[in-house]
Amino acid sequence: MITCIKVKTEDDLRKCMKIRRTVFIEEQKVPETEEIDGHDHLGDPVADHFLFLKNGLPVGTIRCLKKGDNVLKIGRVAVLKEARGGGIGKEMMDLVEKMFPKIMTFALDAQEHAIPFYEKCGYIASGEIFLDAGIRHRHMEKRNSGR
Ligand SMILES: CC(C)(COP(=O)(O)OP(=O)(O)OC[C@H]1O[C@@H](n2cnc3c(N)ncnc32)[C@H](O)[C@@H]1OP(=O)(O)O)[C@@H](O)C(=O)NCCC(=O)NCCS
Repeated sequence: MITCIKVKTEDDLRKCMKIRRTVFIEEQKVPETEEIDGHDHLGDPVADHFLFLKNGLPVGTIRCLKKGDNVLKIGRVAVLKEARGGGIGKEMMDLVEKMFPKIMTFALDAQEHAIPFYEKCGYIASGEIFLDAGIRHRHMEKRNSGR
């Protein structure tokens, strides 16, 4: 069981950013200027940050951006290396989707290696591979079955 926190404090946002720094900037070598953007502050009108704890300790994070009334863009999905492979990533996706019962479509741009993970979460890939921060990505979407 993991706990999902919708971030409302600077302290929890700092914990999310620490996970993203470890996973994307240090592990995957994504440049800091591309990883951190204008949505990474409390009170952003379209962004929600989620922090996930296991046994009280931070293990993962997800950032969601509202794209109008019907589409939620899911991104910055990260589980700390030592916590991977045990179902936490999928549980994080399930918990976040449940937070948005009115959204029609969940969309994301998946790193190529993560496509099978998102397929397990019910997402379907479409379109061509493209480069973002030098990493191969593909667009994926899922209809919200919880509506
Ligand atoms: C991608 C990531 C979030 C997956 O988290 P995780 O906790 O390891 O995933 P889970 O253990 O919940 O896996 C759920 C299912 O997907 C499968 N899966 C996970 N990663 C996979 C991979 N790279 N290739 C194939 N299958 C994968 C698991 O086997 C599991 O299948 P099952 O339900 O049949 O057992 C995690 O590896 C991560 O943070 N990676 C680094 C950051 C990253 O690349 N994020 C994605 C950016 S688009």
